[in-house]
Amino acid sequence: MSTPTLLGLCGSLRQGSFNRKLMHVAAGIHGGPFSEGSIRLPLYDGDLEQNEGVPAEVHTLAEQIAAADGVLICTPEYNQALPGGLKNALDWVSRPKGNPWLNKPVALMSAAAGRAGGARSQFSLRLALVPFRPIVINGPEVLVANASKEFAEDGSLSNEMYLKAITETVALLKAAA
Ligand SMILES: Cc1cc2nc3c(=O)[nH]c(=O)nc-3n(C[C@H](O)[C@H](O)[C@H](O)COP(=O)(O)O)c2cc1C
Repeated sequence: MSTPTLLGLCGSLRQGSFNRKLMHVAAGIHGGPFSEGSIRLPLYDGDLEQNEGVPAEVHTLAEQIAAADGVLICTPEYNQALPGGLKNALDWVSRPKGNPWLNKPVALMSAAAGRAGGARSQFSLRLALVPFRPIVINGPEVLVANASKEFAEDGSLSNEMYLKAITETVALLKAAA
């Protein structure tokens, strides 16, 4: 069987995002085909959709999700929930015909400033994904707490506990893909 192709989505738009670093650590562990999709989309607006149609970048994201064997979402926690930009992307992707998430293996990871490492963000993201019926990997949980202290300048992560959880999660995602 060929190596699964994974798509990464980062819930943060920030250039130096720890979640993007986490995503690249996971992609490195995967070692196979990997690309990053973008959630940098306009705010969902029914008038925009009606007058101009679904934006091209939404179609692109939906096609990337559909084409991937598995999707990895790395997201921060904003006020104990998933970031609005990520929810906005889920809402946009639900608008074109077809559901690219259906039965798609999906793994969630988070890096956050708090001690819980984004646990509540992941939980709310799980709920937000329910309508689309993906296959969300249940564990182990990858919750990188106190994120600014964990990543080296080059984006690497040395904490063995986190690396073990990331490695297990990537293996489960690949097995499901
Ligand atoms: C609006 C906002 C709300 C936040 N709320 C939380 C929170 O509820 N829990 C938490 O652990 N960190 C919270 N943080 C801190 C983020 O976890 C931290 O900035 C993280 O590095 C953001 O992810 P990024 O590095 O991928 O951009 C919040 C940050 C912002 C900007």
